[in-house]
Amino acid sequence: MGRIAYVNGRFVPHGEATVHIEDRGYQFADAVYEVWALFDGRLADPEGHLARLERSLSELSIAMPMSRAALTMVLKEAVRRNRVSEGLVYLQVSRGVAPRDHAFPNPPVRPATVITVSRVDRAASEAKAAKGVGVVTVAENRWGRCDIKTVGLLPNALAKQKARAAGAVEAWFVDDLGFVTEGSSSNAWIVDRDGRLRTRDTNANILRGVTRLTLLDVIRQNGLEVDERPFTPAEATAAKEAFITSASSFVLPVVSVDGKAVGEGKVGPVASRLRRLYIEQAKATAI
Ligand code: PDD
Repeated sequence: MGRIAYVNGRFVPHGEATVHIEDRGYQFADAVYEVWALFDGRLADPEGHLARLERSLSELSIAMPMSRAALTMVLKEAVRRNRVSEGLVYLQVSRGVAPRDHAFPNPPVRPATVITVSRVDRAASEAKAAKGVGVVTVAENRWGRCDIKTVGLLPNALAKQKARAAGAVEAWFVDDLGFVTEGSSSNAWIVDRDGRLRTRDTNANILRGVTRLTLLDVIRQNGLEVDERPFTPAEATAAKEAFITSASSFVLPVVSVDGKAVGEGKVGPVASRLRRLYIEQAKATAI
């Protein structure tokens, strides 16, 4: 069976799904997005992603295309029609289609909504997590509103390509003070020399990762402590462990930074445990 996409109120074959050339997402990256993981066909961290979507849209004065409840139904229907059990759901909402002009169309136009669903090979992801991955560092060069999940991802795409070219899986942006902000598509964490978990606070110019937020909850439920403060790449390699979090990678152990081993250069017990606990919690709360 072929893939089905949702475009502005219609389910259409993936290969025939198109948007207008004057969609402002296409012309100005004037659009936001969300990504949900699917466990057994159910949406992981549903409320966290919906809340962030509403916030991203509101920061850009784009209307929610429909109510939360209606959107949840459409997302679930998209999953059902694609018959995907383990995978990802991608939602994009742009300001809409209007003759090209930098300023917003006045009166506002209808936001354009696109949903796609893709299958993920979870066995391959588990194998990757069991081995751990490498990251490279790149200079932070993004705009000042990385808290808004916009599709303006060119710096992220260039950073990810650098990682790929170096045989790594993720790139960590490093700010002017030498601290890691976040990954090109994930949040960054370490288990420092003293065994304390550390991840950057969200007053910094980073995305407020939903997986990060759920994991903070899981960490506290398990009586562990976490410092929400930044670290440098040198602190990461001197740390016991490092890992990244995102809807697509969950908790993914990092074993090297710029080719230098993190700790002993092996997947550590804390990241492995947190991966398991995160997945348990996400499965239990998926809808
Ligand atoms: N990426 N930071 C950035 C820059 C991201 O793009 C993402 C998510 C995250 C982690 O956020 P969350 O835990 O809510 O997924 C952090 C998604 C998965 C993507 O671009 O595909």
